[in-house]
Amino acid sequence: MKTIRDINIKDKNVLVRVDYNVPLKDGKVENDLRIRASLPTINYLIEQGAQKVILITHLGRPEGKVNKEFTLSPVAKALQKLLPKQTIGYYPLPKANQEITIPKETKIALLENLRFDPGEEDNSNEFIKNIIDSVKADIYVQDGFAVIHRAHASTDAVKNFLPVYAGYLLEKEINNLEAATKDPESPVLLIIGGAKVEDKQPLIDKFARIADQIVVGGKISADGYKPKHKNIYVAEDFDEDNQGQKLDIGPISTGKLAGYITDAKTIIWNGLLGYAENPTYATSSTIAAELIGEHQGATTIICGGDTTGFVENLIKEHPNLDYSLVSTGGGASLEFLLGNKLPGLEAIKK
Ligand code: 3PG
Repeated sequence: MKTIRDINIKDKNVLVRVDYNVPLKDGKVENDLRIRASLPTINYLIEQGAQKVILITHLGRPEGKVNKEFTLSPVAKALQKLLPKQTIGYYPLPKANQEITIPKETKIALLENLRFDPGEEDNSNEFIKNIIDSVKADIYVQDGFAVIHRAHASTDAVKNFLPVYAGYLLEKEINNLEAATKDPESPVLLIIGGAKVEDKQPLIDKFARIADQIVVGGKISADGYKPKHKNIYVAEDFDEDNQGQKLDIGPISTGKLAGYITDAKTIIWNGLLGYAENPTYATSSTIAAELIGEHQGATTIICGGDTTGFVENLIKEHPNLDYSLVSTGGGASLEFLLGNKLPGLEAIKK
């Protein structure tokens, strides 16, 4: 994979695809994990003397139309807060053949939501070429790991116009996910939780061959999941509310899981083990997150939006917790773990 370390950045205009598809609440960014995760690449490019760093991203699914609900204005503000020494420029998407003029002192600019134009999801050459030309981009960096499973203009078509280099976030995600899937250190443990069995079954089937042990918890186990493979342990006891709803896996199951975590050298966790939005039913997920985060000497990967959000919140309270990767990609990390081709990654290899 070609990365930003392979090129001379000095005095170049660098167009960077990030994934700032972040949750918003009351007009503010609710969880800035994806924005923070892009900072090492941005800071490196600035330190290396880039003339301009121009960031592009999508937010939500506005279906090719301008929609105030999905404007990047709150994201621009959140980024500005994280980079107080820089002035962050914020510009609409360019019209055809329009040049974007960024003042000399502004080093970092963010363009408006790519999905305000149908060209992004249509994987349009014309659309991405126009953006490249509008900012006179010399170099293209792909750092939007969470979107590389989509064949869109900013992940795929772009390779027709500029060589694509991986940013630090993309490199970190891929290196860790590769370590967990290609010849991983044994024992390999996959922990599956969440609600929708149809979403998780492909991962269970794939890892039945790779993992020494799979543990199934969450609503899937409460609904009576029947394993098809021998190396699967399904939670056997549950904490219930007073209507008899099974809302967390119980102490016996949590104890078994704790033993598997302690023994494992590679751990992948996708899906909460109980209804953890309610602290009463977050016990097993908290214990798992703490044990994994304290388990040094193992490759530890947390993926899936709910699970990463939960772990991120726990890290705020317990900064000693440390994971090899808290993945920023929901769908993308799942596709990678399933061994599927990712268009955005293919574009970099070429
Ligand atoms: C994500 O949040 O998983 C990515 O940003 C991709 O978003 P999408 O599912 O709308 O393509």
